[in-house]
Amino acid sequence: MAKVLVLPGDGIGPEVVGEAIRVLEALRSSGAIDLDLEFADIGGAAVDAHGNPLPDASLAAAMSADAILLGAVGGPKWENIDRPLRPEQGLLRLRSELGVFANLRPAVLYPSLAGASTLRREVVANLDLLIVRELTGGIYFGQPRGIRERTQDGEREGFNTMVYRESEIERICRVAFGIASGRARRVCSVDKANVLETSELWREVAERVSGDYPDVTLSHLYVDNAAMQLVRAPSQFDVVVTGNLFGDILSDLASMLTGSIGLLPSASMDESGKGLYEPIHGAAPDIAGKGVANPLAAILSVAMMLRHSLGREELARRVEEAVGSVLKRGLRTPDIGGGEGETVGTRRMGEAVCEAL
Ligand code: IPM
Ligand code: MG
Repeated sequence: MAKVLVLPGDGIGPEVVGEAIRVLEALRSSGAIDLDLEFADIGGAAVDAHGNPLPDASLAAAMSADAILLGAVGGPKWENIDRPLRPEQGLLRLRSELGVFANLRPAVLYPSLAGASTLRREVVANLDLLIVRELTGGIYFGQPRGIRERTQDGEREGFNTMVYRESEIERICRVAFGIASGRARRVCSVDKANVLETSELWREVAERVSGDYPDVTLSHLYVDNAAMQLVRAPSQFDVVVTGNLFGDILSDLASMLTGSIGLLPSASMDESGKGLYEPIHGAAPDIAGKGVANPLAAILSVAMMLRHSLGREELARRVEEAVGSVLKRGLRTPDIGGGEGETVGTRRMGEAVCEAL
């Protein structure tokens, strides 16, 4: 029986994950799938309960699970504590310990939400892109880091380094090309090769890997131009492959093309198919506890889990279709409201997806 670890985390995390679990329970009680669900603490909740954003017990449970569903971490309560104790560090350490280097962030426009995008309908029509973000390297994990005093003049400086090894670039590019060959067969590699040496190497490795995928076209964009192109003509993109920091930024940008960051799921995969699944949105402390958060990104993360870690493509599609039908019926959480449809809260949205299933 597959073992799924649930890490609800902070802010709206527990609320949206609660609805995602309801969807899993609905599949389980209908006999569609057999699952063993376990729960553990992460982030600020874990700092409060155990003095550590990723307690040993949570890490051990994650290591032995087949898949992990995570809500969100962080919040103002923990912003001023020592960096190693901050909620975000728990998440970064979890990603790194699990070796989930390939972060898949799809941005798909649901036709019934074309009016919810801040861009014109004709610009976002047919949007279906996938950002493949390198997740366990780059400037997020450069060493050594810190705020320190310069010996010359005693002035303080913040220090981070961006490092990418060829093997790290190669494996993420292979993931991107592999996926692209089952899609529209276009990979756009995003870097800053006009300025950064890491990017120069990235470009060279991407070119080399592309030689093994003759049916996939490779193009390159500088990250600043990519940001502009994503807003100008987003449907030109199929698969975008990029490093950790650029992928973080571009995926938030891409999410708004679809209407709301509350809609975007993600999967972070290791070499073997084990995965960490999380909405790309954060803990949203401003709306936490109000029952208004959009649970669809978390629910769609469950669909990605069914597809990528549990080998249940048909169930993944059922969940995605259920989400599509609920949106088509006009149900809207406030983030995608825009005055259209029926405004509902977190609970009702989750319930409606279960009914549609
Ligand atoms: C994300 C988030 C995280 C990141 C934060 C919470 C550390 O923004 O998953 O995109 O920067 O990777
Ligand atoms: Mg982010």
